[in-house]
Amino acid sequence: MKSLFVSSGLSLAFSMAALAANAFDESSWDSSQIIRRDVAIIGGGAAGTYATFRLKDHGKSVVLVEKTGRLGGHAVTYEDPITGGSVDYGVQVYDNNSIVRNFFSRLNTPLADFSFASFGRPIYADFKEGVLLNLTSGGLGQDYINELNKYPYLNDGIELPNPVSEDLLLPWVDYINKYHLDYSTAVATLARPAITGDLLNILTLYVFNDLNHLMLQEESGAAVINANHDNSQLYRNAVPELQPDLFLNSTVVAGYRSTRKRDGVRLIIQTPAGFKLIIAKQLILGIPPVLENMRSFGLDSHEHDVLSNIYGLPYYGGVVSNTGLASGFSYKNSAANTTYNVAEIPSVVGFTPSTVDGLFFYWYNSPEPVSQQQIEGEARDAIKLLQKLTNSTTQPEPRFLAFADFAPYQLRASADSIRNGFYDDMYGLQGHRNTWYTGTLFVTGSSQVWNNTEVMLPEILAAINASKSLREAAWILLSHTLKRLGNIVGE
Ligand SMILES: Cc1cc2nc3c(=O)[nH]c(=O)nc-3n(C[C@H](O)[C@H](O)[C@H](O)COP(=O)(O)OP(=O)(O)OC[C@H]3O[C@@H](n4cnc5c(N)ncnc54)[C@H](O)[C@@H]3O)c2cc1C
Ligand SMILES: *[C@@H]1O[C@H](CO)[C@@H](O)[C@H](O)[C@H]1NC(C)=O
Ligand SMILES: *[C@@H]1O[C@H](CO)[C@@H](O)[C@H](O)[C@H]1NC(C)=O
Ligand SMILES: *[C@@H]1O[C@H](CO)[C@@H](O)[C@H](O)[C@H]1NC(C)=O
Ligand SMILES: *[C@@H]1O[C@H](CO)[C@@H](O)[C@H](O)[C@H]1NC(C)=O
Ligand SMILES: *[C@@H]1O[C@H](CO)[C@@H](O)[C@H](O)[C@H]1NC(C)=O
Ligand SMILES: *[C@@H]1O[C@H](CO)[C@@H](O)[C@H](O)[C@H]1NC(C)=O
Ligand SMILES: *[C@@H]1O[C@H](CO)[C@@H](O)[C@H](O)[C@H]1NC(C)=O
Repeated sequence: MKSLFVSSGLSLAFSMAALAANAFDESSWDSSQIIRRDVAIIGGGAAGTYATFRLKDHGKSVVLVEKTGRLGGHAVTYEDPITGGSVDYGVQVYDNNSIVRNFFSRLNTPLADFSFASFGRPIYADFKEGVLLNLTSGGLGQDYINELNKYPYLNDGIELPNPVSEDLLLPWVDYINKYHLDYSTAVATLARPAITGDLLNILTLYVFNDLNHLMLQEESGAAVINANHDNSQLYRNAVPELQPDLFLNSTVVAGYRSTRKRDGVRLIIQTPAGFKLIIAKQLILGIPPVLENMRSFGLDSHEHDVLSNIYGLPYYGGVVSNTGLASGFSYKNSAANTTYNVAEIPSVVGFTPSTVDGLFFYWYNSPEPVSQQQIEGEARDAIKLLQKLTNSTTQPEPRFLAFADFAPYQLRASADSIRNGFYDDMYGLQGHRNTWYTGTLFVTGSSQVWNNTEVMLPEILAAINASKSLREAAWILLSHTLKRLGNIVGE
């Protein structure tokens, strides 16, 4: 790069103020540092990786930028060096539909049928009080299905009527009471893992959006899993084919996104091999679009207002061995004396056996960020307690083998901002300034993220077609950049 930054040594603490006025102008860059593509995709989790391959397969040129050293995002896997087996401790299962099957087959990754029963028989215990609980739930009843059917617009997204039904903005426990849901149904909706936050008070619309018809189908048998119990395989297989269009350990440090299609998008990314300038027609965001992630994209004030409503929650996962716990059971944290026996948070959600003998994975739910040390300490205490409760013949010291921080997880907005039209505004941002949002903002699971991306694809392809040659428009860009810079410095 030719002196784009006011001072050197900025690679760690990139400062907007230090961005030279001509930073987005290609004449400021060595040609080897310029990446010219139809589409830039940011975030290499389920959403970004899928979009990248689908656009490639439509003959579009792509570049994928991922913050970490790997693809897969929430799909994390521990490879056991002793047995060679794998333990997924993030994303577990997929819906068995053609989109999932085609994507796995595209990346030469085998699928197998999956039954939720293979997670083991549940043992309920109060991890805090140290008592076993005799909880039996008959599962979700028809009463739940009847309620879910009132809101078909929550099945594939969050396209709310105006005004939004106040029922959907009730805390879930209030909805349970208002509509007299059965005790067993209530327990079944509250005992689900991988749901963050205070389950009793989660807004009703998020319960129906997540525990939707697709999820119910999965739970009743239409679920598939990687045949090797290695959900990272899909993403590892993606890497070779994406060279040289994949930038790992890389982030966007500055962005210019035009309101006009012909001017496209320019991004400055920081990679292990230095700064690069991406010149693309369209931008796809497969990252959680919380403000913290979005500031470097040069937000306009409308985008800033809309995106500032989004917040994600903490959630953690890990793998543990040497537990002394019988496999074949999943140990679930429940509280002896709370409404519907919901465990208070922060706490370990439960320990689930994996297909590698002796290895369990566990999840941890907390309203606030917690350190790995604290979480592993609590998980250890819970295991020691379960050893006693289940009369384990041995009381070994647990060994922690893997850990992941999934924050910001389950992107949400407050009842007030939803009432004020947040989701309408968010859908309204699709395509705005050549930018598309394909992550888990409107649906929660990978299968649905992929389906949503598929549904958006024709519009994105049309937008690429409508973008004129970017070289032609370079002079327009320059004038915009100068104006834009004024805004950045002013923020
Ligand atoms: C514990 C757990 C269990 C789950 N189980 C299932 C399941 O069984 N089935 C299912 O379908 N779904 C499951 N999910 C839901 C899961 O979140 C989604 O399926 C899916 O992973 C979401 O994909 P995504 O691409 O939107 O987000 P992510 O998978 O989170 O990917 C986002 C990617 O963007 C990267 N990134 C973030 N910020 C930046 C940045 N600023 N710049 C560049 N890159 C960035 C991240 O490193 C990551 O690679 C589970 C989630 C969790 C946490
Ligand atoms: C990414 O960074 C990690 C941690 O620094 C490193 O181990 C890994 O080799 C890097 N990968 C790439 C592709 O740069
Ligand atoms: C998924 O569904 C298809 C079609 O019903 C079926 O043929 C297949 O066996 C199922 N399982 C897997 C792993 O594909
Ligand atoms: C557990 O509850 C079930 C149903 O309520 C009951 O039949 C069973 O006897 C109970 N078991 C114990 C050990 O208390
Ligand atoms: C739960 O409440 C009952 C009745 O109040 C009490 O006897 C019991 O000890 C409590 N259990 C725990 C684990 O707190
Ligand atoms: C564990 O042992 C105690 C005392 O011997 C007994 O009362 C209890 O039922 C046992 N619990 C289990 C889960 O086997
Ligand atoms: C995909 O989404 C569309 C609309 O968003 C929906 O009609 C369709 O049923 C979904 N397909 C699957 C397999 O989920
Ligand atoms: C984009 O343009 C190509 C080539 O002109 C054309 O084949 C394709 O149908 C167009 N796609 C869309 C979505 O407009």
